[in-house]
Amino acid sequence: MRTILVASSKGGCGKTTLASNLAAFYATAGKTTALIDCDRQGSSLHWAEKRAGLKDPVLGLSGKLGGKLKAKVPANCKRLIVDTPAGIRAAEVAEWLAEADALVIPVLPSMIDLEATETFLQELQALPALRRGKFPVAIVANRLKPWTQATAAALEQMRTWAYPVVAELRDAQGYVLLAGLGRSIFDYHSEQVRAHQDDWTPLLKWLKKIA
Ligand SMILES: Nc1ncnc2c1ncn2[C@@H]1O[C@H](COP(=O)(O)OP(=O)(O)OP(=O)(O)O)[C@@H](O)[C@H]1O
Ligand SMILES: [Mg+2]
Repeated sequence: MRTILVASSKGGCGKTTLASNLAAFYATAGKTTALIDCDRQGSSLHWAEKRAGLKDPVLGLSGKLGGKLKAKVPANCKRLIVDTPAGIRAAEVAEWLAEADALVIPVLPSMIDLEATETFLQELQALPALRRGKFPVAIVANRLKPWTQATAAALEQMRTWAYPVVAELRDAQGYVLLAGLGRSIFDYHSEQVRAHQDDWTPLLKWLKKIA
């Protein structure tokens, strides 16, 4: 089983959106997938519950900070995605690194988010498990409005960071609508949805290589 952590200290940057869409991607690809929600808000868990009756369900499990991740996961699971709460500290992420194969960090194109993430990344880099630079960590730029100066400037800043920007997801109402239905952009194949699926391709390729 491969385990992917989705984390950031910053609230509202797209952790649940990233975690649920990733889980759905693997489920629609035929891989038995579990999604552990470590956030008391329970958004990922609610999403998985809504998805339960659909064609490619995802097993929703609740987790907590400091808890072992894999204990509750059925042996036949091929992918485990972990959604984490806002306000998490790098030291709390560290507790899971030994159980995980990759860490993905969503970031919004705003100065407030960039600054908060930079602090989080500095804390991460100081962790013994990450200091050697071997553990796969990726940045996902989220809710981009590519035609704006703010997005261009934010991407430029993110590209100076120690970890690669592996995907640039655009701001799209589809994410909001589908989340409320327990669905994902990988459940549909209209031309418009496919264009957004393409945004994920570099992240999915990166994950295929390492996780
Ligand atoms: N690419 C996107 N385009 C449009 N809306 C998005 C996108 N990504 C996330 N959102 C919306 O932004 C809001 C915050 O996203 P989400 O809940 O995934 O963030 P979060 O990091 O999990 O938040 P929290 O810190 O509260 O757990 C949600 O309403 C979500 O639907
Ligand atoms: Mg969330």
